[in-house]
Amino acid sequence: MWRLAPLIGVLAFILTGCGDPTLSALTPKGPVARDQMFLMILSLSVMIFVFVVVMAIYIYVLVRYRRRKGDNKIPKQVEGNHKLEILWTVIPIILLIIIAVPSITQTFDQARDMRKEKDAIHVNVIGHQFWWQFEYPDLGITTAQDLVIPTGKYVSFDVVSADTNHSFWIPVLGGKIDANRGIHNVFYLKSDEVGIFKGKCAELCGASHALMDFKVNSVSSAEFDAWVNKMKAPPAAVPASAAKGEQIFKDNCMSCHATGVNDKSFGPNLNGFASREMVAGILEHNDANLKRWINDPLAEKPGATMPKVGLNDDQLNEVIKYLDTLK
Ligand code: CUA
Repeated sequence: MWRLAPLIGVLAFILTGCGDPTLSALTPKGPVARDQMFLMILSLSVMIFVFVVVMAIYIYVLVRYRRRKGDNKIPKQVEGNHKLEILWTVIPIILLIIIAVPSITQTFDQARDMRKEKDAIHVNVIGHQFWWQFEYPDLGITTAQDLVIPTGKYVSFDVVSADTNHSFWIPVLGGKIDANRGIHNVFYLKSDEVGIFKGKCAELCGASHALMDFKVNSVSSAEFDAWVNKMKAPPAAVPASAAKGEQIFKDNCMSCHATGVNDKSFGPNLNGFASREMVAGILEHNDANLKRWINDPLAEKPGATMPKVGLNDDQLNEVIKYLDTLK
């Protein structure tokens, strides 16, 4: 038994998700996730209660009624005993009702289609190998990788895939929901805390499935409005120092990456790119990592559709100067 202790220790460590509180369903930051956690705790409590009671009776009977030396009597038989039959039929039914009522109520509540809800923020989510596109149809904004949402408001999601099956998951807000090609899955979430949360793809979708991360930037209503205004403002003139980079971008990158506020492109739209949390969803956002990424995307995300463009060191530095202006 003691030889298993290290294994159990390692398992316990792994099962805690290595402790990232922004990537855990056990640290809910909104009502949907809280309700889901309540269901987990409720069903777990009922299961633990049943386990403890059954084990206690089992051990008691084992000790109290074990066959003693010289005791050859057949004990009293209880087969067909009405009282016992009713007891062990009614108790499980009661326990199941305790689990079923909140489970069914919440399942229907969380399946509500909020697409027509006027007060909600509406986001179309499109999963791509291996990145996420976010469209705000009411606001006329298309962005990628960073999902910006206001606290205290329902966010209604319409989730679909552009290629293979993905699954859209923000553990601290609740979920998850499949992103399938041609099928629009609908659900809603709500955040009531300001913060940056991690999002994941939760469906094996190819070589870089594990790297299909995104960020949720949960901000106050005022900050959200400011973000919308910033995104919709006419782009600032590109400073002279970034003009060379802009040309390199136009020549090499623009066929896949749009920069207009609501442009849909084959690759992630880069409007507001300089303000995003991460590079490609996986690397800390700084010039060195940006260079690493553009220089060889497939080394960072195997199977990604972004090719190695083959820019030289000088060109890389120039194009990064330009990307840094896309605030
Ligand atoms: Cu997309 Cu896994």
